[in-house]
Amino acid sequence: MMPPAAAELEQRLAEAGAARALRRRQRRAGTALRPTLDGRQLVNFASNDYLGLAAEPRVVDAYRRGAERYGVGAGASELVSGHTDAHAELEVALARFTGRPRALVLSAGYMANLSVVTTLASRRTAVIEDRLNHASLLDAAVLARARLLRYRHLDMADLAARVAACPGALVVTDGVFSMDGDVAPLPRMIEICKAGAGTLILDDAHGFGVLGARGGGSIEHFGLAACDIPVVVGTFGKAFGGAGAFVAADDVLIEAMIQFARPYIYTTALPPALCCAMRTSLQIIEDGTSLRQRLRSNVDRFRRRALARGVPVTQSHTPIQPIILAQNARAVSIAERLLAMGYWVAAIRPPTVPAGSARLRVAVSAGHAEEEIDGLVDALAACL
Ligand SMILES: Cc1ncc(COP(=O)(O)O)c(C=O)c1O
Repeated sequence: MMPPAAAELEQRLAEAGAARALRRRQRRAGTALRPTLDGRQLVNFASNDYLGLAAEPRVVDAYRRGAERYGVGAGASELVSGHTDAHAELEVALARFTGRPRALVLSAGYMANLSVVTTLASRRTAVIEDRLNHASLLDAAVLARARLLRYRHLDMADLAARVAACPGALVVTDGVFSMDGDVAPLPRMIEICKAGAGTLILDDAHGFGVLGARGGGSIEHFGLAACDIPVVVGTFGKAFGGAGAFVAADDVLIEAMIQFARPYIYTTALPPALCCAMRTSLQIIEDGTSLRQRLRSNVDRFRRRALARGVPVTQSHTPIQPIILAQNARAVSIAERLLAMGYWVAAIRPPTVPAGSARLRVAVSAGHAEEEIDGLVDALAACL
């Protein structure tokens, strides 16, 4: 097939523009939670820095010391010469944190999901996914050339029927859904997988560090054992405040990924200095009961005040608080007005969310001050 001509691409861009679906990168300075745009100070509610670790002095210091020791980059892929002490020590700490035999550090959550699914699935495998799973999980099934089946969001009857029809399938889910903030019903999913000999894979990008008394994520939130869910993926770009990801599983899967997972093998290793920083983030997360209490209290405050002012929040009790507005144009224009008032909130539009469900995605952090939360609610109430 011929690649699209420039005229065709221009046409697509024009159509996206007409649907108010074009995305624009905002060029910011400053830190994740307190950025500046064009020199103007803002409070950021469009960041996944849920615990405020992206600019935490101990994490920054570990990063700096790591860079002095290892230099800025890994210099090679992991299997060539990029695997350092910093990677190995982080992997040991993550295996302990997740209660699993082994963990593997990867350069992104996107790569981690591609790696897990392509290692476990082939043309003969049915991969059953929640319709609202993160794009990387859906793309992973396509890359594996597996048979991809999607069930209605959180609909356990739909999932059970599909698992019953495809014994031995891989069942893949987000723990906390990234655009809705709701949590997958893992105990029921485990039962369904057991009944149909399915293997459950959990991407807990937005759960680790946030849910559970120790920050152990959705698994700890539901009081489950590691053996209930054989494979978990976590990312460092959210509560850890950095970038990169990990997979924690049994020794055989991790070894198979090291040998066969192309998205792991054919990419430069995560910078070792970042591994040092993420090791410090992990320590803070493990000792982070008070941080998580502050996060919870900020989420509760936002919800309480929003409900009192008629701001239509959903049922979500996680830091991801969507306000569903339906039309793209409305979401974009309200986000622009909020920005003018000093609050950065993401307007999320299709295809990231289903058509007709454009929304503001408010992401609450432990690093937000109470006055900042109150200020955002006032601004929302004035704009809606
Ligand atoms: C649920 C989920 N999984 C995976 C990813 C991808 O992680 P990364 O940004 O590290 O590629 C994201 C977001 O970025 C996510 O929200």
